[in-house]
Amino acid sequence: MIISVKDLRVYFSSSRGAVKALDGVDVDVNEGEIVGLAGESGCGKSTLALAISRLILPPGKIVGGQVVYEGNDILRLSPNDFRKQYRWKKMAMIFQGSMNGFTPVFTIGYQIREVLEIHGYEGDYHDRMVDLLKMVELDPQIADRYPHELSGGQKQRAFIALALALDPPFLIADEPTTALDVVTQVNIMNLLKKLRREKGIAILLITHDLAVLSEIVDRIYILYAGKVAEFGTAKEIFESPKHPYTKGLIASIPTLTSTRISGIEGFMPDLANMPPGCKFYPRCPFVMEVCKKNEPELRTVGENQYAACWLY
Ligand SMILES: Nc1ncnc2c1ncn2[C@@H]1O[C@H](COP(=O)(O)OP(=O)(O)OP(=O)(O)O)[C@@H](O)[C@H]1O
Ligand SMILES: [Mg+2]
Repeated sequence: MIISVKDLRVYFSSSRGAVKALDGVDVDVNEGEIVGLAGESGCGKSTLALAISRLILPPGKIVGGQVVYEGNDILRLSPNDFRKQYRWKKMAMIFQGSMNGFTPVFTIGYQIREVLEIHGYEGDYHDRMVDLLKMVELDPQIADRYPHELSGGQKQRAFIALALALDPPFLIADEPTTALDVVTQVNIMNLLKKLRREKGIAILLITHDLAVLSEIVDRIYILYAGKVAEFGTAKEIFESPKHPYTKGLIASIPTLTSTRISGIEGFMPDLANMPPGCKFYPRCPFVMEVCKKNEPELRTVGENQYAACWLY
């Protein structure tokens, strides 16, 4: 296992009280595995990505749990040690707006070289840069261009090249294609698949687009209101979802043959004022008395599948 998130709790303080963005979440990613993380807007996906990357800022706070990377709890490292030993080298993060993270006044090539230099890459910077750009299927000549001279998709690829500069074995991708057109989205997803195949890189892929995830991930975690509602292999989750929330999410994927989208009625509870019992019960079509009182734990519901639901 490359990374193991254990009982992670991240709260944001607000005038309404503690917003429990993550309230006891466990997620594992194995070497070379692509793991998907899905759930509605506001369920805590980005919070998890930021916590793993040690980028939670006030008013947010990690109030409990561990992020174990190859056996070490990286939450216990000083910010400086984390930056020196882990960021870029052991894990890199790409996100929706990361393509806008390039500085406009320097060429793409200059900015990739800078990362290699700052982190003490031992080898020829130019050769490495050419390899990286080729890996993300960009013409190496792009190195001489400024960010505004690239398309959105090219910029996102260039940022992925930057993220891969120091060969991290683990990549977190938070909605990496959301701002891009559909064709570019597919191309970037294929690129992530290629990186896993050719470099064995493990990827935590966050998106609210389950259709995208179904094409690319090995396993999926479904998050609801700061908790894992269900997880399992992609096959189990798509072919036989168990949690009513997962079922609802899957039913709302538009298909080629049906444009009718059957969404889930209602809204996520206020994370600063959570109901007792199961967080999903106010919206659940199968609600029972027990659901309103006691919170269900994750239980085995398939070979490698777990759901937190009183139905099982
Ligand atoms: N700085 C903040 N202050 C207060 N609450 C915050 C802050 N950042 C996030 N939250 C709350 O934490 C919860 C989780 O937010 P997060 O960004 O992780 O959601 P998400 O699943 O990534 O959503 P999306 O799909 O829209 O990106 C939300 O309910 C949000 O309101
Ligand atoms: Mg997000």
